[in-house]
Amino acid sequence: MIKPPWIRSARRALLAAGATAALAAGLLTATAAPSQAATQGPCDIYAAGGTPCVAAHSTTRALYGTYNGPLYQVKRASDNATKDIGLLSAGGYADAAQQDSFCANTSCVITVLYDQSPKHNNLTQAPAGGAAGGPDNLANAFEAPVTVGGHKAYGVYVAPGTGYRNNNTNGIATGDQPEGMYAIFNGKHFNGGCCFDYGNAETNSRDTGNGHMEAIYFGNNNHWGSGSGTGPWIMADLENGLFSGVNQHLNSGDPTVTNRFLTAIVKGGPNQWAIRGGDAQAGGLSTYYSGVRPNISGYNPMHKEGAIILGIGGDNSKGAQGTFYEGVMTQGYPSDATENVVQANVTAAGYNSGSTSTGTLTPGSRISLKATTSPCCTSHYLRHNDADNKVVIAGINSSSPATDKADATWIVRAGLDNTSCLSFESVDKPGQFLRHSNYQLYLNTDNGGSSFAKDATFCPTSGNSGVGTSFQSVNFPTRYIRHYNYTAYIAGNGGTNAWDNTKSWAQDTSWLTVAPWS
Ligand code: AHR
Repeated sequence: MIKPPWIRSARRALLAAGATAALAAGLLTATAAPSQAATQGPCDIYAAGGTPCVAAHSTTRALYGTYNGPLYQVKRASDNATKDIGLLSAGGYADAAQQDSFCANTSCVITVLYDQSPKHNNLTQAPAGGAAGGPDNLANAFEAPVTVGGHKAYGVYVAPGTGYRNNNTNGIATGDQPEGMYAIFNGKHFNGGCCFDYGNAETNSRDTGNGHMEAIYFGNNNHWGSGSGTGPWIMADLENGLFSGVNQHLNSGDPTVTNRFLTAIVKGGPNQWAIRGGDAQAGGLSTYYSGVRPNISGYNPMHKEGAIILGIGGDNSKGAQGTFYEGVMTQGYPSDATENVVQANVTAAGYNSGSTSTGTLTPGSRISLKATTSPCCTSHYLRHNDADNKVVIAGINSSSPATDKADATWIVRAGLDNTSCLSFESVDKPGQFLRHSNYQLYLNTDNGGSSFAKDATFCPTSGNSGVGTSFQSVNFPTRYIRHYNYTAYIAGNGGTNAWDNTKSWAQDTSWLTVAPWS
């Protein structure tokens, strides 16, 4: 959509004059079209503020008004072929249909996050580093579906073990040079592992000492630092420490943040740094810390090295999980006013959690799965336990506690191992999936590996009893999800295990997909 000249010149004047963020937010919101991104992207706004992007990564949209290149690359499992995923239009949204058709009937991982800035700081699979393990896993391309401006897109789903890196960058701050960065995360997908980061890190993937990093951290790790409440928090990973403010450990000014879509900001220059955050769907930014560097050796001046990481710590620690949609790094310390206009651009982009359908076997839908075996179990639903990680069936009704209802509610995902099948993510334990192990069903954290993907993928078929749906294990196709003695398994119709008993097998493996309890 071409905007009237008065709007374009008004925006230029607004940015040049550094007018109030509230006014800018109103103008940008009022002029955004639902079918197309704003004609300015976040990087145009940073450039207008004198702090241009030197890295701009997104799998969901263009971050410059004129960007028309690829956003990311996927690789499919069936033949290892790769494909760049681009935009619906210049400056617009991701063309997710390209991914859907390329990855049909197989699985895909994200191999490259292209840098939209002229610096070409692409992110690829993180190599092994100082921390144990590596190289890292690549993100399943289907695990983080969203809509942006009403258009389907996919985020980068970082299961523990997953990470991206560029140790040979151009234009990223080094030493004590100033820089800024923001990222949009899923505020519900986090853990306490080290370290779900996006930003500046060591160029050798090793811990080279205090002050050698400056990255946004998101999660509830409280080993080094914490804010108020129980987390998760936005903190700065400055190496050998996640900082929530000027002190080590607790800084109560850094709040627990729980927005589904979260704008997270860290910026730093000579003896000055800040943490800011906000709801990426609406409203402005708050400043959680702004002030001098920690009074600890190594952090003033800083010793930034200029690599870029996503989903991992500076030394390639990879116990963390989270979801990334977009983020940039700048040259120079952006003003709060510039960031406020970026936030207005983000909220105008229209992030949404995707499917609004419930009770259907469509990826993104929330469902509950009801047993059909009469008379024992027709008020019983597939749920995970809270006391352990087993999966069982239990009676749930409208008076059941909210935790029980949530335990019996699943988010349908495209099959981790095959997009023509399905996986089931717990609604109250993001990142944890229904999977079989030794033929029994458990709720476990996705570790990003191919064995886990297979164990967590089930192909829906007509109900074995003639009622509802049965769910066939993708790697043990004679076995289906079954309840037996109120516990869940994958079971064959006859076999050596007690749960392979042929009596009631057809009923026990047939489920009704119903409206979610939570
Ligand atoms: O600063 C926290 C973490 O400590 C860093 O990310 C990592 O390099 C080190 O283990």
